[in-house]
Amino acid sequence: MLPYSFPGHALAFLRNSEEVLATGKKYFGCTNHPFALNLGGSIFYAIFNPVDVAAVFNAGPKLSFDGFLHGIMAEFGSSQTAIQKVLNVPDESQLGLSPRQSVSELAHHFQVKQTSGSELKLLIQHIVCFFQENLLLEGLKNHTSPSFYVDCDGEKCVSLKYWTAEVFIHAGQNAYFGDELLKIDPTLPQVLMRMDELSWQIFYRYPWFLRPELNRLTSRLRSTLHQYLKLPKHQRKSVAWFTQFLESEYRRVGLDDEDIAAQMLFLYWGINTNVSKVGYWMMAHIAFDPSLAEIVREETEPAFQEDESLDVEYLANACPRLNCLWLEVLRLSASSTTLRYITEDQELGNYLLRKGRALMISARQLHHDETAFGEDAHLFKPDRFLKSPKLQRSYCFRPFGGGKTLCPGRHLAKWMVLSFIAIVFRRYDVDLAKPQKFPRYQENKPAIGIISGCDDVFLRLKARK
Ligand code: HEM
Repeated sequence: MLPYSFPGHALAFLRNSEEVLATGKKYFGCTNHPFALNLGGSIFYAIFNPVDVAAVFNAGPKLSFDGFLHGIMAEFGSSQTAIQKVLNVPDESQLGLSPRQSVSELAHHFQVKQTSGSELKLLIQHIVCFFQENLLLEGLKNHTSPSFYVDCDGEKCVSLKYWTAEVFIHAGQNAYFGDELLKIDPTLPQVLMRMDELSWQIFYRYPWFLRPELNRLTSRLRSTLHQYLKLPKHQRKSVAWFTQFLESEYRRVGLDDEDIAAQMLFLYWGINTNVSKVGYWMMAHIAFDPSLAEIVREETEPAFQEDESLDVEYLANACPRLNCLWLEVLRLSASSTTLRYITEDQELGNYLLRKGRALMISARQLHHDETAFGEDAHLFKPDRFLKSPKLQRSYCFRPFGGGKTLCPGRHLAKWMVLSFIAIVFRRYDVDLAKPQKFPRYQENKPAIGIISGCDDVFLRLKARK
């Protein structure tokens, strides 16, 4: 156990979780052995050794995610009865024609189907068309956030933070929910963006009475989704069939509209927030290094057809430098924490993890591991993965988690970000609007997936001839 004084590590952890983990590692001689933390009376083992991490991802039900999922669903507004129904695995007597899987497991399975193979291609085609329209200068005028344009010495400049958030959230929302959500509340992407900034309070179980703004935002999002569900199904058509499939599954197990809206909020948040933040970091790195913009233009040019349509598979398979940039940006910006409950005593290497406790794996700690990534692990090196392609298969590279809960949206996320970057740099010369420092990572707030930037970046966009 990492030594602590009353009341444990929780306050320091809330202030800067990664610093607590890094300090603990140093305290135990940088050995990568697990150690325990006391967070609000609960004991968590922090796991760092990549071999242990792989064992955790491959462990069966002795290490369970459901306990955490249960808590998160409740925080998003689901009733206890609804959560039981979503997580319940039907027994033989309840089976009938339904599969022997919980709705939550089915959702994972069908989200994988929706975001792979020909289904993924259809989805991305739709999203690319959306980008093509919304990344025209006239398209940018459709923004809804008051902070979208900023005055830089009398010149109108774009806020990278609001631009990426709006475009990606609109695109994801449109693909999964169709046009209707935006008609009900055109400012929904902004509401989600603010909610996401505060969402760490949910995951770190901040007392509800200390988070009035977050409560207000989640209830507004739920209420919009509730109104959406009241519309006839044919009016809510979206390119992703998954949304209506999930709704039918929720109805099959007896959820009402209010509970379905709470579950849909979880989906809406999950598909939209991390992607826009990687888009932000990719853009920031390229804007701060014009040589990267040239590489992107040169490499992606053949992906554009005569009619300007975009071959996304070309981007994903034939643009090595762009893909390595994506990997390096993910390495430095992914800050997801994997959590598992220990439901039975479990050996891990030479250690025994005790039943009733929990464990955590920080992607950020793994991604800064010098044995895997070298002494310059803390630096951004756009060609790191180009020089060592095997790094992307390293046990230390875990931007999307692993095992049973490996992110099903990882291909969609990559295709979205690569398309966005290719279109932007084909359309525009992108310059920093004024002298600015590269944005700092927001390390003083617990991150859930991709870390936010402390600072915005202001850009001047000039249409290319
Ligand atoms: C760059 C963007 C993204 C990142 C970094 C990311 C990261 C992650 C991580 C680390 C997990 C594992 C959580 C855990 O095991 O504790 C996860 C799970 C998940 N992600 Fe993503 N994600 C991204 C984009 C997406 C997108 C676009 C979608 C949907 C289209 C999505 C849907 C999901 C779902 C449904 C799960 C839960 C899997 C399950 O347990 O059933 N993600 N994601």
